[in-house]
Amino acid sequence: MGLTSYIGEQFHKPTGFGGRLATFVMNKQNWRQYVGTEAALELRDTDSVLDIGFGNGYLLNRLAGRYPCRFYGIDISPDMLAAASRRNRRHTDGGKMSLSLGSAEQTGLAGGRVDKAYTVNTAYFWTSLDAGLAEIWRVLKPGGVFVNTVYSKAMLDSLPVTKSGYAKYELDEYLAAGARNGFFAAARPIVEGRSYCVIYTKQETGG
Ligand SMILES: C[S@@+](CC[C@H](N)C(=O)[O-])C[C@H]1O[C@@H](n2cnc3c(N)ncnc32)[C@H](O)[C@@H]1O
Repeated sequence: MGLTSYIGEQFHKPTGFGGRLATFVMNKQNWRQYVGTEAALELRDTDSVLDIGFGNGYLLNRLAGRYPCRFYGIDISPDMLAAASRRNRRHTDGGKMSLSLGSAEQTGLAGGRVDKAYTVNTAYFWTSLDAGLAEIWRVLKPGGVFVNTVYSKAMLDSLPVTKSGYAKYELDEYLAAGARNGFFAAARPIVEGRSYCVIYTKQETGG
């Protein structure tokens, strides 16, 4: 495996030292996305919230330090589960947060469990948008909101590490997949042309 593919794989499924380094870099580079995600979530004190693909648990820790919500997190990487668990120990020990292995396509959560869900830079790695969105629709309460924070296709196309292993979607594809899976979907820019939140709302009357 070449260096470029190795780095790309560390963003997909961070593992070992390379994974810890990649997630540390993400935490520095993606701060605008974290701020944008938090704003789009409009958290209320009583919300239960799911982070899909939490990485090293940086954003979960930031949100749990600021809101009295109940937090859940899932990730496919055992090493990230260990890292996020260390970072968030005071929240998990206090019963405010539960972290486990799982995927966007198979969260392991009961249906209708959460008011809000979010993910930052994981949709490129899902088996398909439909598989992830159908599962997220299932775990959201009626009226629930899912914030999908991503880089634009144009931005991803400019990075050598995304040449393989990344599904790069246009905004229209994110919106159409939402409609197909029973959501009202709208986009909110973070940095114009480069990054945005796609906000999916599960209609109160839906399903
Ligand atoms: C680019 S990192 C982003 C980490 C974190 N969301 C952040 O922004 O700091 C992608 C993360 O998603 C996880 N991941 C990849 N595919 C996934 C999937 N299908 N479902 C859930 N998590 C996934 C990876 O293990 C990794 O921790």
